[in-house]
This record gives sequence, C-alpha cells and structure tokens, in this order.
Amino acid sequence: MGKYKIKTLNGISKTGLDKFGQNYEVGSDIDTPDGIILRSASLHETEFPGNLHCIARAGAGVNNIPVERCSEKGIVVFNTPGANANAVKELAVAAMLLSSRKIVEGINWARSLKGDDLPKQVEKGKAQFAGPEISGKRLGVIGLGAIGVMVANAAVNLEMEVYGYDPYISVDHAWGLSRAVKKANDLRKLFKHCDYITLHIPLTDETKHMLGKEAFAEMKEGVRIINLSRGELVNDEDIIDALGAGIVSEYVTDFPNEKLINVPGVIPVPHLGASTPESEDNCAVMAVMQLKDFLENGNIRNS
Ligand code: MLT
Repeated sequence: MGKYKIKTLNGISKTGLDKFGQNYEVGSDIDTPDGIILRSASLHETEFPGNLHCIARAGAGVNNIPVERCSEKGIVVFNTPGANANAVKELAVAAMLLSSRKIVEGINWARSLKGDDLPKQVEKGKAQFAGPEISGKRLGVIGLGAIGVMVANAAVNLEMEVYGYDPYISVDHAWGLSRAVKKANDLRKLFKHCDYITLHIPLTDETKHMLGKEAFAEMKEGVRIINLSRGELVNDEDIIDALGAGIVSEYVTDFPNEKLINVPGVIPVPHLGASTPESEDNCAVMAVMQLKDFLENGNIRNS
C-alpha cells in the first residue's frame, strides 16, 4: 500500500502535522490528496480532486467548507469541537473586561502622552477611563456547547450572574455547566435583563443576523455585546444604529469589517479567539487523528 496523501491548506501547527508519521505524504502542493486539512482558508468545490475522501477543519466552525456538497460527493468532513474552547473562553473574559474598563482607550491615550510630568498627566486618565466591574453584573451566554459552557462557568467564578440559552441543548443538559447558571427560557428574557451578551453559536441559516433590529429593541440600555463566533450572527447596520442610540454601549467583535472598524463603541479584534499556540496544537492534533483514524480504520469520530 502506498502512502496516504494529505494536502495542507493553511495554519496547521507543526506539532499536529508531525502526528501524521511516516506513512503519510503531507504538503501544500499535493494535487491528488486522500485528505485535506485546513484552518480558516475557504475551500471551494473546484478544489476537490476525484479521490478526495475526507476534510478536517482544525477549528470549530465549518462555514469555510461546502459541507452539503461534500455529503453529496461522499466526502467526510470533520471539525474539532472543544479543542479551542479554553482559548476562546479566555478571550471572552478579556473582552468583557476590556470593554468595561476602557483598557484599549486608556492604553492608546497613555501612549499619546508627552512631557516630563507624565505621572501627573496619568492621574487625569483615572477619571476619564473609569468603567464598571463585571462582578455582580448579568451575563447572557447564547450557545451552550463546549465554548459557551466554559465561558459561563468562568463568569460564575468571576461572580457574575449568568443566564444560559441554547436553541438546541437545554440548560439542564449542557454538559459540565455550573448549577449557578440560570436558565433563560427565551431570548427576550435574556435580552431584557443582561448587561453583557456573549455569542457562542455556529453560523447557520437560522442563526444568521440573530442579533438585529428586533433583538436590540428588547435589550437593556447600555448592554455590551461580545461576538467571538461569526460576524454574520450580528446585523452590522442594526448594531451600528443600536450603538448610535446608546442601546449597545460596546461591541467587541472578532470579525471586524470596513463598516464596523471605526464606529465608536466597536472594539475590533483580528480573529484572535483561537490564536494561542495551545489551541492551535490541540486543534491540529485532533484533526490529524480524525483523518488518520478515518483513512486507516474507516472510523468517523468528531472528537
Ligand atoms: C473556529 O471556528 O474555531 C475558529 O474560527 C478557528 C480559527 O481561528 O481558525
């Protein structure tokens, strides 16, 4: 039996690729691969060679892969749920803190200071950049998969009052969720009461623009929104209006675009949710093991 051929598209850590071992030919210029492994690059159907059997996404979302077309052609698609959950959780906590405490504005302001009396000038910033603590505030977590559960539990430990909502999993059945997380039976309740809302759901036809005009109309004035999931979950025009009207005070998005980038109140983050060496290794190793198990043993496992 010849070697299995694996095409790498982008962003796969060496620790992961090394797991393929000697029975694999791995590279970015392979024309007739048995499998493809990729991170965020968009994969088009035209790139499917005849004998392609499987594709592994080293990450949670699969919206960069034409999954339906793959199913029709019998190509198995894997993703790596949970492998980057800790990295995203940490960024979600940072996002709540940096939007509340005006950390980015404060840093930019401090960098612009000049003169011999810097300590004196710095004192002025104290009042200018004061912001509320997150302890005791209400957080709504939308989506209780691996990432949402970790964010909810971390927020409980930070003494926030946490409400969980998931369109598919009941709060009672979200694995590993702290009992301190309260159930939001419907989104309106969560919108009405929460000071912070964080999204941890995939992008689908149902979830696209889930936060739009109607949702913002229900929200508590001054709410802070964190979106580390996918940009299209939020309607850009509607959140710009909600920011202008003061309904939303801050929007931390891991998916900045031209419309949003300079809007006051938008904190653009360059898709850093999963960008830690630990998460990149976890995702790559999991994706490689999935491909190997499938090609060598015919097993399909998404973990
Ligand atoms: C994900 O879907 O898990 C992230 O988009 C991963 C990444 O940053 O590549």
